[in-house]
Amino acid sequence: MLKTDTLKNALPNVTMSLPGPKAKKILEKRTKNVPAAVLCNYPVVIKKGSGAMIEDVDGNKFLDWVAGVGVMNIGYGQESIINAVKKQADSFFHGMINITTHENYVDLAEKINALAPVKADTKKTMFVNSGAEAVENAVKIAKSFTGRGEIIVFSGAFHGRTALTSTMTAKKTYSFGIEPAMGGIHRAEFPYLYRAPRGYSKEESIQYYLERLQYVFDQGVPVQQVAAIVIEPIQGEGGFIPVPFEYVAALRKLCDENGILLVADEVQTGFARSGKLFVSNYWKEEGFAPDIIAMAKSIGAGLPLAAVTAGSHIMDGVHPGIIGSTFGGNAMACAAGLQVLDIIEKQNLTERAKVIGKIAFDGFTDMQSRYVEIGDVRGIGSMLGVEFVKDKETKEPYPELVSKIIKHAVSHGLIIENSGVPDNVIRFLSPLVATEDQIHAGLDIFETSIKESLAEL
Ligand SMILES: Cc1ncc(COP(=O)(O)O)c(C=O)c1O
Repeated sequence: MLKTDTLKNALPNVTMSLPGPKAKKILEKRTKNVPAAVLCNYPVVIKKGSGAMIEDVDGNKFLDWVAGVGVMNIGYGQESIINAVKKQADSFFHGMINITTHENYVDLAEKINALAPVKADTKKTMFVNSGAEAVENAVKIAKSFTGRGEIIVFSGAFHGRTALTSTMTAKKTYSFGIEPAMGGIHRAEFPYLYRAPRGYSKEESIQYYLERLQYVFDQGVPVQQVAAIVIEPIQGEGGFIPVPFEYVAALRKLCDENGILLVADEVQTGFARSGKLFVSNYWKEEGFAPDIIAMAKSIGAGLPLAAVTAGSHIMDGVHPGIIGSTFGGNAMACAAGLQVLDIIEKQNLTERAKVIGKIAFDGFTDMQSRYVEIGDVRGIGSMLGVEFVKDKETKEPYPELVSKIIKHAVSHGLIIENSGVPDNVIRFLSPLVATEDQIHAGLDIFETSIKESLAEL
């Protein structure tokens, strides 16, 4: 039994105004020593974590609905991971995969190849360290395999902060002042049903967004020069917006007809979050699996690990030397990755994602019926977005309200984060092991925070 087990089933409990005295000292040290551009507006300094809960250095207990931005799907403090990483640490930390092969890398690649729903009978996987690297390598693989140089991305997209992925990312906050952007990136309009032209049905909206995509090929880049279309199956930073399946089916057809690779950026959506291991599992069942999946975040449960999986014919079509990484597939991170897959299966976390996701979804839609400021509630499984607007008719975003809700929530022990290009969406990214009592406690705090925030505006 872990010492943190009482924390695992605890409810949020903040006993002082934040930050508490110990947290305050550490945050002051942070301000002096860490660039302000590495943003943080939370008064929370973590001491330990268990399940869906974290305890800060002053003993306050928080329910974590951000989970390291989708990193801790399996929850904090899972004993088998701790033991596997300790065991690996006793043998060696690092075996550089270009020099010394280590078994964890190979075993994890084999497991992911068996599970990842890409469009191929045989698959291969390479490891890197972060989501941005996974996406960047997916693009390099697509370019090298197709011999083409152009990439389609979407409005609202977030793919990381490297030079290439910040160009692929839509929101200018992430690339302001670091111009010039990289070449070869073309942006189509993301199929955001809530913000489709007024009065359009779902079918008409999807048709509208497909026409917008065609416009990119007509006036942006010839379709024959496109190597890949890169899309998040549920847009994360862009506002927790699922891509309608009908739109994916059309993308798949377009890719097949034009020799383009369909790349799913499952960095935030992967590892049971959606109620399946990947959202691409749903896509594959419907007959439109992607060619490449980029994955990261929850794959390592907090250890730096990311991966790219594609059909063997694609991976083996890449020019030798183009892909690789010194630390990618680190032995301890892969030991954790193997346990993550084991835990997801043994603890049936895909089903758990549906169960807690439904409780949260019902709670949010119930609030939607009572607060005109909640314009939309959406998502798949346990990846849910609550979009706040000033007016349900005009749908004008309400970021001021969202930033207040976040502050009030944390003061009551609930950690939540915004998303959406105008920062007007609250994301639900709870660890999948949260108890039902904890989800209900979180919903109560969420509603209290809405009320308190509205009273101040
Ligand atoms: C969909 C998506 N892609 C890529 C990234 C970049 O991942 P990282 O921060 O690990 O580089 C993120 C991070 O939030 C993401 O949500």
